Amino acid sequence: MAATLADLYNDNSSKLAAFGLVASAYVLCKFMWTVGRGIATYFVGPALGLSADLKKAGAWAVVTGCTDGIGKAYAFQIAKKGVNVVLISRTQSKLDELAKEIETKYQVQTCTIAADFTDCSKIYDKIRDAIKGLEIGTLVNNVGMALPYPEYFVELPDRDQILQNMIHVNMSSVTMMTSLILPDMVQRRRGYVINIASGAAEQPLPLFNIYSATKIYVDYLSKSLHEEVHGKGVTVQVVRPNFVATKLSGIRKTNLITPSPNTFVSSALATLGLSTSTNGYWIHAVQSYVVSWVVSMKAAHFLFLRIRKAALKRIARKNKGN
Ligand SMILES: NC(=O)c1ccc[n+]([C@@H]2O[C@H](COP(=O)([O-])OP(=O)(O)OC[C@H]3O[C@@H](n4cnc5c(N)ncnc54)[C@H](OP(=O)(O)O)[C@@H]3O)[C@@H](O)[C@H]2O)c1
Repeated sequence: MAATLADLYNDNSSKLAAFGLVASAYVLCKFMWTVGRGIATYFVGPALGLSADLKKAGAWAVVTGCTDGIGKAYAFQIAKKGVNVVLISRTQSKLDELAKEIETKYQVQTCTIAADFTDCSKIYDKIRDAIKGLEIGTLVNNVGMALPYPEYFVELPDRDQILQNMIHVNMSSVTMMTSLILPDMVQRRRGYVINIASGAAEQPLPLFNIYSATKIYVDYLSKSLHEEVHGKGVTVQVVRPNFVATKLSGIRKTNLITPSPNTFVSSALATLGLSTSTNGYWIHAVQSYVVSWVVSMKAAHFLFLRIRKAALKRIARKNKGN
């Protein structure tokens, strides 16, 4: 006669109990390892002065998307360490102002390059010429763009143009800038490449589909490149911020979970040399850990639908007022 489930349980109860114990111990150890690594990366390592020394990597750093938000904070904080900075963004007047501010404040050299990363045709030749001969020890691939509000792929206004721009700004820029600069770093056997991805790379995001897909590209590219070059003295770090108060996020007020760009970058830079894959800021790491356990893609879809609805209402009100 076939054994019932209860018979099977009774016969194997001690084995099942042992399995349960091992599985619980594994989950507990994994949790403690994650917490321990987080404490070492965000607190103990930086406090012991174990973060990367950018000056040793080379006299110059390059920062893309540097006139605002996270990129501007990287440019300032790298210059503060005595490293000269190549500043790349679209608007020459903003670049000139920033260069003057950095040179006056930190007595370092700057070089400005006005380039629009939506245009792939000639900008990389222009950048190659402008940085020729500079000893670049740090590259921050920061420039990025997102949709102004969550939207369905098929309902995106001016879809083809937006998709191409996003792919060029978020993916081509990281790839081509790395292609320009990484070979020299490898030859000199030192250097840091910092790639700004996003917490949006940590799971597929309906209504932010292309953004999250471009950011997982940055995540995978960074991790595989790091594996290829870390034996040659070069570190590739991927940073996945959650919300930071910038123009791109549309959040003006800072709070515990939404830091200012300066607070975020001083934390993220301190993790360089200690972690090659990071959320950059300890609260964002906790947030991402919790989200990975409790928020499903369907829940994200539901949440973004509500945000979309509110955004569309706001736009309709604005249009009515005009
Ligand atoms: N803020 C967040 O909550 C958040 C969260 C996760 C990830 N991120 C990522 O962090 C990075 C920086 O974001 P952010 O929030 O600091 O952005 P932001 O405040 O909007 O600043 C963007 C910077 O990039 C420049 N830029 C924009 N489009 C450009 C283009 N086509 N070509 C050249 N430069 C361009 C802008 O200057 P010009 O207009 O003068 O060119 C500006 O300096 C992005 O990769 C973003 O995806 C941000």
